[in-house]
Parts: sequence; structure tokens; C-alpha cells
Amino acid sequence: MFDSRIFVEKSLDEIKARVKDERVASACSGGVDSTTCTALVHSAIGKKLLAVFIDDGLRREGEPEFVVNTLKNLGIKVRYVDAKKEFFETLKGKTDAEEKRKAFREKFYSKLGEIIKQENARFLVQGTIAADIKETVQGIKTQHNVLEQIGIDPKIYGYEIIEPLKELYKPEVRMVARELRLPAEVSERMPFPGPALSIRVLGEVTSEKIEILKKATKIVEEETKDLDAFQRFAVLHSDKATGMKGGKRVYGNIITVRVVESKDAITAKAMQVPYEKLDKISKRITGEIPSVVRCLVDVTDKPPATIEFE
Ligand code: XMP
Repeated sequence: MFDSRIFVEKSLDEIKARVKDERVASACSGGVDSTTCTALVHSAIGKKLLAVFIDDGLRREGEPEFVVNTLKNLGIKVRYVDAKKEFFETLKGKTDAEEKRKAFREKFYSKLGEIIKQENARFLVQGTIAADIKETVQGIKTQHNVLEQIGIDPKIYGYEIIEPLKELYKPEVRMVARELRLPAEVSERMPFPGPALSIRVLGEVTSEKIEILKKATKIVEEETKDLDAFQRFAVLHSDKATGMKGGKRVYGNIITVRVVESKDAITAKAMQVPYEKLDKISKRITGEIPSVVRCLVDVTDKPPATIEFE
């Protein structure tokens, strides 16, 4: 049986012993994994830690502000880095899912490398968990935050990596978050992938497509918030379909709604969402987003699908 109190005590000792007097940066996206490990390392080394939030332009509406404020409220020093242009530039022209993931990873780590150099830090903390490593090593997909386990030496980016949660699965991470008394907004937060909306825009990512997806995501999250789901989100397709708006034929965008139940993300079940909710979501998405003409629902479990589309 996992004991979060013992885990925290042991981790604090290990982190202190490894870091000594060096400076440390923590890549924090605001998700439960990265916020929990940022808070854990902060408990161990206090002011020697700087949390870094990289705004890649791929986050959900209001997310950058939420993350920066949450960290500040926890008493953690935080640096906001606006890298939106660079990320869109990196993703430009890339249509293959794995190529996009690798491009995201490369930009993410090289940007962090720049910041770590400026901040004179030796270590990077990141919230990799066991499921991330398992899927990347098995070749299911390239999780953006898995390096050493697939033979990439992080020293090429100029730092060493600390991953305090790498042996835990999601339910245990939440137990650690509660043990650290993080707000429920963090400990119970819905999982969200590191490469963010880039893997929910199928095919090439552009800022215009991200804007469409941000609106659809907000609608799905609002309309499904009372469901006990593991993840609830929208996906924007790369192809188009015919529809009718204002009495005219429109060749427009397609959005898929995905709501899944899961414990640890290794397997998942498509949730049976009440039809009235789906109807409302479809009407809102096609009504509030001018370019969208069609709204679909994904009813596939994992396996054979994965939770994300890319
Ligand atoms: P899949 O799509 O593999 O997702 O069924 C399993 C869980 O992992 C999340 N996910 C990621 N998280 N970096 C992350 O930090 C990634 O590259 C990544 N890809 C998928 C996904 O949202 C789900 O919770």
C-alpha cells in the first residue's frame, strides 16, 4: 500500500542530498504532476527553486494566468516565459503526430536550456510519472518529457534532471498532492498532456486552429464538469466537411468530443455521456464557433484507441 507521508519524507531527504547548494529550475505547466513535483522540491530546498512556466501558446483559455497565480499563492518563485511565436514556428508545416511530438520536445528542452543557463541553475525538475515512461519506452508514443529512459542524455541541453515522481501513477501523485496540502484545483485537476492542444489539432498546428480548439475545449469542459470523468476534451480535425449556416453551404471544420473514464491512463473507457448533454455541446460548438459545421463523439476505448488522438 502506497504511503504518501513516507514518500514525501523520503523524497525531501533525497532531493536535499542531491541538490546541495545548487540552483534548480522546475518546468511547471500547471498540471497535477508538474505542480506536485514543483511543490515537493520547493518544500525541500525553498528559495533555491525557480518554477518556470513556458507559454507555448498551446494552453487552454486562462491557463497561463491560472498557473502563475497558483504557484505564487504557494509561495513559489515563478518566471513566465512567452515563447508562443517560437513554438508555432517549430510546429509549422509538421503534420505527422510523432514528428510534432518530437518537434515540441526539442523546442521545450532547448528553451528550458536557455532559461536554465540564464538562471545559473544546474538541475531541472520535471513531473514525469511512471505511465509516461512506460508508454514511451514501449514505443506507443513519444511523451514530451521522457529523455533518459530512451537514451537521450539531458546534458546535451545543459542540465541534469530530477524526476521525483517517476515511479508513481496518477492516483499516487494525487495522494502526494493532498499530503502537501495543495489546493483541490491542483490535486484533483484533470490530466492534460504536456504538448497541450498541439496533439488535439490533428495535422498541422496553426494559431488560428488553436483558437478554434480553445473555444471548443472550453465548451466541452463547461458542459461536462459534473461528470465523474478522467478526461473531457475536444479535438479539431485536419479535414473539413460540408454543412449549412445562414442558409448557405459551408465547407467547415469538424470537432470530436472525447470523454473517458480511467484510473491511471494505461487503459480507458469511453464514457456514456447523456444525449441531452451531447446535443447541447454540439449546438453550442457549431453555434458559437463560426467555422465549425459538424460535431462528433468518440466512443472508442483504450485500447484499441489511445486517450489522445495523436
Ligand atoms: P494516451 O493518449 O497515451 O494518453 O492514451 C495517456 C495519458 O497521457 C497524457 N499524455 C501526455 N502527457 N506528455 C504528457 O505529459 C505527453 O506527451 C502526453 N501524451 C499524452 C494523456 O492526456 C493521457 O492522460
